Amino acid sequence: MSDQTDVKAWSGRFSEPVSDLVKRYTASVFFDRRMAAQDIRGSLAHAKMLARQQIIAAADLAAIERGMAQIAGEIERDEFAWNLDDEDVHLNIEKRLTALVGDAGKRLHTGRSRNDQVATDIRLWLRDTVDAIDGLLKAYQGALLDVAAAHAETPLPGFTHLQVAQPVTFGHHLLAYFEMAKRDRERLADCRRRINRLPLGAAALAGTTYSIDREFVAKELGFDGVCENSLDAVSDRDFAIEFCAAASLVMVHVSRFAEELVLWMSPRVGFIDLADRFCTGSSIMPQKKNPDVPELARGKTGRVFGHLMGLLTLMKGQPLAYNKDNQEDKEPLFDTADTVIDTLRIFAELVPGIVVKPEAMRAALKQGFATATDLADYLVKKGLPFRDAHEAVARAVRAAETKGCELPELTLAELQSFSPLVADDVFGVLTVAGSLAARNHIGGTAPAQVRAAIARARAAL
Ligand code: ARG
Repeated sequence: MSDQTDVKAWSGRFSEPVSDLVKRYTASVFFDRRMAAQDIRGSLAHAKMLARQQIIAAADLAAIERGMAQIAGEIERDEFAWNLDDEDVHLNIEKRLTALVGDAGKRLHTGRSRNDQVATDIRLWLRDTVDAIDGLLKAYQGALLDVAAAHAETPLPGFTHLQVAQPVTFGHHLLAYFEMAKRDRERLADCRRRINRLPLGAAALAGTTYSIDREFVAKELGFDGVCENSLDAVSDRDFAIEFCAAASLVMVHVSRFAEELVLWMSPRVGFIDLADRFCTGSSIMPQKKNPDVPELARGKTGRVFGHLMGLLTLMKGQPLAYNKDNQEDKEPLFDTADTVIDTLRIFAELVPGIVVKPEAMRAALKQGFATATDLADYLVKKGLPFRDAHEAVARAVRAAETKGCELPELTLAELQSFSPLVADDVFGVLTVAGSLAARNHIGGTAPAQVRAAIARARAAL
């Protein structure tokens, strides 16, 4: 990036140049050049409209198109000389255009301001980003479904309060994360509807005196419609905040899964192993294999929440219309997108590499009285009120605990001492397979239901 002193696009009004420090402080080209493709796209649509409306000549449009094609190539090949003196991506490109095609380049900004220009660029950029994230969420969902299908019948202790609660299948457990990702996609799709409106035409804040055709530009750029108030169009970044909120929930969900992976991989639990390529060793302890990837995903959630809070605070209390504060929207937005995209890419790859250890899951289910609720339900079905059944089973659990065994290991006589309703058919409900199969309704953990849920999910995907 060259730093030659230069004439600013707006220098006509000023009596002295800005200091180098102020130049650096106010410039955004270091980071907003990331939106160069969107900036060019927006400019081309604007120029096309200007020519159609006979605000500029057809020859000007042709020159602008030629210049922009060259600039796009220069940027792609990393040959473009980004210049701090030209402040931001918009002025850098416009200046180069004028250098390439002369007066036509100077006409491009007719009926437009950087205020509606930047709002348009962000929306175009964010729309593409939302689409990319949706694709990655879908890939992550597909991976979850594959593992869930392989383990539709594999029993796992289901936990509440991290205490063994009731048996579930590992497939059922993974489908919970599938559902979270489904809602994440719905949220992003909803957010996209509000992103996809055209600010151009708002100009600086009040609209413009030229006979512009905003609907045409909206169509050219694939927007669903135009922003209906010029002051609002250039100033609000609520769509970016919404995106960061939706992204935060994506990270909340991924971090929950990440935490379970870490826990499951701990030798104390040992339910799974992760492929070596997602783990790292220790520089001092030769025996270590650490789940760094899920730990980092858990940790990176923090920066995404931080960006949401940053953008909320940025917007709060801003008077209408555009204020330079809004230039600060980009870095949090970019980092949020990068973090979510990288995290989802890695999770879509990591999930198929989960090595499931059904033996360890089964062994864990043998401790913790996971079928106690089934015993209570058994007594209820024989006529005992649920509260009394709960009490009888609680006493049975205490007896088993004292004896140092699990419920199915108590004798029939012992079980009958807690309720005369117990008969020898009780042992069927005390097995894990019986417990799972009994929860046979939509949303339940019975293997048949898990398989049906997977089939529905695959069809919807
Ligand atoms: N770089 C600016 C931004 O990101 C573009 C808009 C500048 N507008 C202005 N009036 N200074 O918001």
